[in-house]
Amino acid sequence: MLNQDELKRNVAQAAVEYALSCLQPDSVLGVGTGSTVDFFIDAIAPHRDRFRAAVSSSERSTARLRRLGITVLDLNEVEEMPLYVDGADEVDPGMSMIKGGGGALTREKIVASVAREFVCIVDESKVVDVLGKFPLPVEVIPMARNVVARKLRELGGEPRLREGFVTDNGCEILDVAGLRVTRPAEMEALINNIPGVVCCGLFAISGANLALVSTQQGVRRMSPGSAA
Ligand code: 5RP
Repeated sequence: MLNQDELKRNVAQAAVEYALSCLQPDSVLGVGTGSTVDFFIDAIAPHRDRFRAAVSSSERSTARLRRLGITVLDLNEVEEMPLYVDGADEVDPGMSMIKGGGGALTREKIVASVAREFVCIVDESKVVDVLGKFPLPVEVIPMARNVVARKLRELGGEPRLREGFVTDNGCEILDVAGLRVTRPAEMEALINNIPGVVCCGLFAISGANLALVSTQQGVRRMSPGSAA
């Protein structure tokens, strides 16, 4: 029986193989954040001569990439990216995701928006029928914390401040429990429109193009419309 780290390592390796089939020597690779992505960074590092550089979604991933000899560019220097690879906290059959367990949701959404393809790497525990069991992270401007929390309560959620956590953008995170997200794109737009919200951790308006899902039987592919 594979443990969760072994499942993460396997999906990271599958993502490396997928990435190497897409990347050219002049390509810039988008890299997400989290423990699954850490395995991906470690596994792609020996192949760093197969692509030009990376753009990263967090200070954490940037430090790891640089430590392993991968050039990290500022997103402002990059116009296109064939691929963005990132983990998720939950993914549904429509390839909408909850992200931000590591607090990097805003930069993740920005970097992902530049990439032609978003490949989500998860173990099977993250695949759900309906998003919302994992509390939805919402990044907020600190002065708006309470007003945003009140609005999120009106939407049926139970927001809780992530104590002692400051994002790479100097903001705070409200983790919103109790939501059953049956219409993820609508909910994403609604929350993004609350004044004071920097970004909500729903990735549904633009979800993943492909999920690599690590199971005890191997890594399987899931794409929009395919059975989970
Ligand atoms: C960070 C994220 C991560 O991708 C998500 O939390 C999954 O992390 P892990 O791979 O450690 O389970 O969105 O903001």
